Amino acid sequence: MRTRLADVGDSGGEPPGRTRPGVPAAGVVDPVRRADGRPRPPGAAGRALPTHLIAPTTTNKQGITVNRSSSTAADGVRVSATSADLDARAHRTLPGGVNSNVRLAAPKIYFERGEGARLYDVDGNEYIDYLLGQGPNILGHAPAKLQADVAAAVSAGMLFGAQHEAEVRAAERVVEILGWPDMVRFGVSGTESVQAALRLARAATGKRRFIRFEGQYHGWLDNTLANWDAEGHAIVAGAGQIADYLGDFVPTPWNDLAAVRERLEAHDDIAAIITEPIMLNAGSIPPEDGYLQGLRALADEFGVVLIFDEVITGFRVGLGGAAERYGVTPDLAVYGKAIAAGWPVSALAGRRDLMERFGTGEVNHSGTFNASVMATAAVLSATGILQETSPYQRMEDYGRALQEIIRAAAATHDLPLHVQGVPMAFHVSFSGGRTLKDNRDILACDAPRYAALSRELIRHGVWVAARGVWYVSAAHADAELADTEERVDRAFAAHAGS
Ligand SMILES: Cc1ncc(COP(=O)(O)O)c(C=O)c1O
Repeated sequence: MRTRLADVGDSGGEPPGRTRPGVPAAGVVDPVRRADGRPRPPGAAGRALPTHLIAPTTTNKQGITVNRSSSTAADGVRVSATSADLDARAHRTLPGGVNSNVRLAAPKIYFERGEGARLYDVDGNEYIDYLLGQGPNILGHAPAKLQADVAAAVSAGMLFGAQHEAEVRAAERVVEILGWPDMVRFGVSGTESVQAALRLARAATGKRRFIRFEGQYHGWLDNTLANWDAEGHAIVAGAGQIADYLGDFVPTPWNDLAAVRERLEAHDDIAAIITEPIMLNAGSIPPEDGYLQGLRALADEFGVVLIFDEVITGFRVGLGGAAERYGVTPDLAVYGKAIAAGWPVSALAGRRDLMERFGTGEVNHSGTFNASVMATAAVLSATGILQETSPYQRMEDYGRALQEIIRAAAATHDLPLHVQGVPMAFHVSFSGGRTLKDNRDILACDAPRYAALSRELIRHGVWVAARGVWYVSAAHADAELADTEERVDRAFAAHAGS
């Protein structure tokens, strides 16, 4: 049986013969590397991995058990000494010990490698991964062909500060796959490509503001980042954010066409409607029947640009993303995450008359790293693999089976869990029995209870986000499903008994 982190107790002592991070103690079998240093093949599904663990924890003022070396994250997951040591080191040179604030609240477990649908931490503990790097790893971890294709491409150089053939082929590929856009501009992050889309919309309409939807996320810059209250007010998400920029958007409840019309009639300075076509960052809330079609019609009627933020949905809910799945064509769409299966690439795609504004120089869009050799190689390889292997039905079937496993375990252990959303990226919550239709429904969920359940899942070897999203990859297969079933059952039992 897999050693549970929580089984080890609160000794706080050093593990026997511990050496340095990532190096196993004498007499401990290294589950990651062989004696000669070569990586081991992945363990058989569900096989216990040898591990040496301690739980150096303390209890904070709120009574939550925390990693003793982490001053910021009240994550409640007891991490091993190796991770705790690395976390302590990290705090000296990395604010909060992390490089993205999204990771502040997550357990400070350090990973050594990922393979397929599984992650391995520095102590050899193995996890089935349903976070997938926040979504990008649609082919699983370290897919051999993708790695080889990118390695081969970069052997000729990484950045030319000029053009190269692969960027043309990558753009042609994206246009061909998506079908509706004429042109593409590559970037590095979803955040920046969203800004490029908004800038184009402002240039095309001569207007400034945009309609966006409560609870949706479009990156961390001042004019898009917001926290939301239950009345739908946007609030700055932290100090230093310029509150005035929140005035750039008109907050609107999702799945409510009348609310969109009302705002378009009330404001004559709207350049764009920007929406996640499935509200995937929060709740995995699908558009109600006719909703996206209704947004399309309203954008046409009022002469505003319709932008789909497909950073999560693109290349994930189908090769053509949500635009294809729902048969609605935006004017512009932003892609990221799955487009390069883990490499940092984003893309803005759109109609020629809009996109050519970059080409004439009328609208600025720049970036040192845009369309690097590795980025374009990764886009070509990842999209090629997705085209050839077409894993979508398999991912959908897997996700559906996983949803059923979660529902069945919840019923067995009498947990009032609600599961909803597209199978390849769904959401689990304590929603009080409600189906989630908008952000206000999400705010009414028992988030602390779900966060506690997510920590229990992690303790049992299921790597999930505290906010409820579960991502599925093409690498998840029968063995992962069987292991997940067993681990979810034990995690839910532990939660129910706690
Ligand atoms: C829908 C959506 N848009 C934009 C972004 C920002 O993308 P990035 O984190 O690559 O800047 C994200 C990131 O999670 C996202 O989910």
